[in-house]
Amino acid sequence: MTSRIIGKINLDSYDFSTDVAFLNAIEKSPEEYDEFAFGYWKNLSLYNGSGRTDDTQYRNCDVAKPTEYMSGCPSIARMLSDNFDLSLVKMVRARNLISGLVIPHRDFVELDPNVSYFRVFIPIELNLDSYHSDESGVFQMKPGEVWFLDAAVSHAAVNFSSESRMFICLDFAFDGAFAEDEIFAASAQVASSSRDIHVLRPSLPSNTLSEMLDTFTHGIDAGAIKQQILEAAKVHFRFNVPIESCYDWLIKAALASPVASADVAERLRGMKRYLLEARGMNERFSLDSQ
Ligand SMILES: [Fe+2]
Repeated sequence: MTSRIIGKINLDSYDFSTDVAFLNAIEKSPEEYDEFAFGYWKNLSLYNGSGRTDDTQYRNCDVAKPTEYMSGCPSIARMLSDNFDLSLVKMVRARNLISGLVIPHRDFVELDPNVSYFRVFIPIELNLDSYHSDESGVFQMKPGEVWFLDAAVSHAAVNFSSESRMFICLDFAFDGAFAEDEIFAASAQVASSSRDIHVLRPSLPSNTLSEMLDTFTHGIDAGAIKQQILEAAKVHFRFNVPIESCYDWLIKAALASPVASADVAERLRGMKRYLLEARGMNERFSLDSQ
């Protein structure tokens, strides 16, 4: 499956500005999944299994509890209860990404393969410098749209601006077959959307690719690796290349590099495996500590 709009809800009656200011003023602390991101990426737990604000790891639970942050978000609370069946939700997060990039990765690879995970995003701010991507292409999410994001396939996000881009992320999990509209509250008014979601991207010119690979090959070493990952991961937002290409370019560059030490390609392979293929529950990855 790839990401798509599953419905539209009317946000006209909600003024989120005070809630967003409250959430943006909370100091960011280290959290799960930080290794996926560059720049300012903040995930605040609004509902989770423990009800604790410092509990940021996704896991299944019977009933998600609101955290203390909900007391500062009355409009978000009303939007959630008006539109979603909160008895089914496993986690709700407020997510912001500013001047930042979430590099291509897959979620849920460490979780139970017999459970169907269903993640939706609702943007509550319009930011036209923000994009998401998955294996099908690049798209922009707009306020009021309820997006299914297939987090089990490779996906990424970027905000090229320094403006806020607040999204609400709801995670559902079902044991067997389910209908997508089960996530909505009985009273919700959900309209359909048929807009064409994909951003048109030109092909990557072969000389641009070879220049870029050349730059990576001559610049890649342990000290520069994070910057190289950032540069490589941004390319698919502008050009029509597969989302995972960035890792293969860098591994190729490290193998060919006259300056990279022998283990740089191995570390990049380890990173690709961790981000896209397999990781244990609570496993973390750092390029620094390998
Ligand atoms: Fe993700």
